[in-house]
Amino acid sequence: MIPQLPLPPGRNGLPFVGETLAFIFDPDFAEKRANRYGAIFRTNILGQPTVVMSGPEANKLILSTHFEHFSWREGWPANFRELLGESLFLQDGAEHRRNRKLLMPAFHGAALQNYFVTMEAIATRHLETCADLGDYTWLPLLKEMTFEIASVLLVGGESGPETSRLSEIFTALTQGLFAFPIRLPFTTYGKALKARDQLLKHIEQAIASRRQNPRNDALGLLLQSRDEDGNALSDAEIKVQALLMLFAGHETTTSMLISAAMALAQNPKVLAQARQEQAQFSEPLDFEQLKQMPYLSQILKEVERLYPPVAGGFRGVVKPFEFGGYHIPAGWKVLYQVKPTHRSGEIYSNPDVFDPDRFSPERNEYKNAEFSLVGFGGGARVCLGLAFAQLEMKIFLALLLRSYDWELLPGQDLSLDRIPSLHPRSGLQVKLTRR
Ligand code: HEM
Repeated sequence: MIPQLPLPPGRNGLPFVGETLAFIFDPDFAEKRANRYGAIFRTNILGQPTVVMSGPEANKLILSTHFEHFSWREGWPANFRELLGESLFLQDGAEHRRNRKLLMPAFHGAALQNYFVTMEAIATRHLETCADLGDYTWLPLLKEMTFEIASVLLVGGESGPETSRLSEIFTALTQGLFAFPIRLPFTTYGKALKARDQLLKHIEQAIASRRQNPRNDALGLLLQSRDEDGNALSDAEIKVQALLMLFAGHETTTSMLISAAMALAQNPKVLAQARQEQAQFSEPLDFEQLKQMPYLSQILKEVERLYPPVAGGFRGVVKPFEFGGYHIPAGWKVLYQVKPTHRSGEIYSNPDVFDPDRFSPERNEYKNAEFSLVGFGGGARVCLGLAFAQLEMKIFLALLLRSYDWELLPGQDLSLDRIPSLHPRSGLQVKLTRR
């Protein structure tokens, strides 16, 4: 008989809570454990034995080569399952493949070109409003912008008071994701359940209106989408998928944009080069120009590397596997971590420095190892909204670079907080002026 490999090193922590509190509240939790145990260690989070893995080989195993050993549904906490329903995040196997294919047309090719006008109009209005404000904190305003873009394009919202109403309801939903699941009307979780039902009702009405007056927004495209056998998503399926898009799509994009604005303000040489690139184009900004901005693309990659909005991903282990000389049993959870790979000195030179040129065709440092840039995940389940997010971010940054100056106000706390997604603690206090 072949002897079974040992379990990864680590500890279980306190009864029931395990190491959950340290995991949530200590930003250096994984780093401290990795220093003690290495790139793979065992812990106990939310009452579940969990293995934390980092480095490009671990990413490759989880995101690609050992795909069928893992379940997304089993990876997410129960609150996510209930609040986000039967959506792509919580589906596996054939069901996931079918639905991802049916959702794809809303996130690629011609669809993106159609979204340009709406994204550009909302971003332009946002920047004009900010320039009128004098000193302000950017994070909440940017979040309003990305939420408006997502709700108008993805769930059929109208700009204006309706978007603000949806945004408030949505905040109640997200607060429930990490709350104790006590279902009473006055608890955070009870309010989140109510918010979910209100949002689903809104999307249901938007679907009915799209059926009467077809439009080429994401919801319209999802209604038209068919697989090879001519099957479509049902209205009930579209409803939960659209809710997921709203959840997945705006907090993350806000995080990357706020980090980009901060990094550009702190790196005048990069800012000057980015402006030079924009100066080559005629006004106004159009969709074709966005394809010819290699330096802006490098900046976005560098922001993804240094300031990844999503820290990693959970999976449930459905088939045991071995990694790094250890055995990981079925029924456990695994968590892949983004930061250790993105800050690895073996892949990136001076990894703590903001340097978009590391992604130039001459250097392309991320090609030193597969799965070394994973801010959008990777493999067959790479972020579905990647191109959507990139389009939105490029439009916003191109408009910002062309027409505005912004300075960081002194005395603010620029240290980073991870929750709900990475951002400077001050929310980025700035002054934006027209050039
Ligand atoms: C800067 C913005 C964004 C970032 C950094 C980001 C990041 C990610 C990451 C890391 C994953 C994989 C998680 C894992 O492996 O556990 C993911 C998956 C996903 N993202 Fe995004 N995302 C962004 C924007 C968006 C947008 C705009 C949408 C939709 C409108 C979206 C929809 C999704 C969906 C549906 C999945 C699951 C895909 C699947 O399981 O097949 N994301 N995203």
